[in-house]
Amino acid sequence: MPHPLEQLRDDALREIGDARDEQSLEAARVRYLGRNGSISAWGEQMKTLGQNEKPVVGKLLNEVRNAVTAALEQAAEKFRGAKETEALAKIDISLPGTPAERGSLHPLTQMLERGIQTFRRMGFALADGPDIETEWHCFDALNTPPDHPARNEQDTFYLPDGRLLRTHTSTVQIRAMQAAPPPIRVIAPGAAYRRDEVDATHSAQFHQIEGLYVDQNVSVADLKGTFEFFMRELFGGDTAVRFRPHYFPFTEPSFEIDVKSKALKGGEQWIEVCGCGMVHPAVFEEINKARGDDAYDPEKWSGFAFGAGMDRLAMILFDIPDLRLFAQNDLRFLKQFA
Ligand code: PHE
Repeated sequence: MPHPLEQLRDDALREIGDARDEQSLEAARVRYLGRNGSISAWGEQMKTLGQNEKPVVGKLLNEVRNAVTAALEQAAEKFRGAKETEALAKIDISLPGTPAERGSLHPLTQMLERGIQTFRRMGFALADGPDIETEWHCFDALNTPPDHPARNEQDTFYLPDGRLLRTHTSTVQIRAMQAAPPPIRVIAPGAAYRRDEVDATHSAQFHQIEGLYVDQNVSVADLKGTFEFFMRELFGGDTAVRFRPHYFPFTEPSFEIDVKSKALKGGEQWIEVCGCGMVHPAVFEEINKARGDDAYDPEKWSGFAFGAGMDRLAMILFDIPDLRLFAQNDLRFLKQFA
């Protein structure tokens, strides 16, 4: 005679085999394996068995529980599979899919990247600083007196706490020199801000690559060579570069740089692209004061600095007529530079 547990197993397996849907399968599971199910009840009954019977029945109970559990899982899997097949059958695989649109870098980002790559090849490391700056980093440390027009509220965005949106990336010159003694050779790409009336060639936010090179015996010739190389990498070997005397409080002598190239639109015109010069001794002195040492002794060290306007360069390079296009987020414009 079969053990009642074996009978129970056979009943359960039959019921599971007969189940036509998930509900009847679940009913079978509850009936046998649920908290008050008949197999679970046998677990309770084990306690009442004698020493001899216990291991035999225990082993059988385990086998039965495993067999029923496996059968339940198999049946559930069968229902899941059928459901999936049914769902898939409704999908028309001949319909066109939704194409994943491929993005690309903004022309300004591409321009900055090209500049960064060129200067890296010349051994310049990347430096950066915050867009929200102290007046000291933006002006005082750069030898710009309190009554200088650039500090005017008409020209600069001030925050209520006295900080400001940096008006140029030259702030990073200061941060780089505070952080490390010479020699130093860094570039700092980033945004700068001025209260400009927005039109085709002016924006309240623009982008610069700042450069700073401090070492022994750095001269204007180094500055010229470095910048000429940069321009020729961008616009080709026949690009002409012109240095015009200019004034900045933090460089002496100071220049503005113009370029001209047949490769550029308007071919024969000089285009202003950069302010630059030799670091003013007063800047070194102020850095020493802030550092509390004599690391930037102007008798021993000299340096050049420049701030190249990257929006202008991108406009020239990509032949973009209006600066406002950079910020309008119009895909018809942006896709042209993919
Ligand atoms: N900071 C200057 C500007 O934005 C450019 C500049 C940078 C000039 C470094 C000299 C040295 O106009």
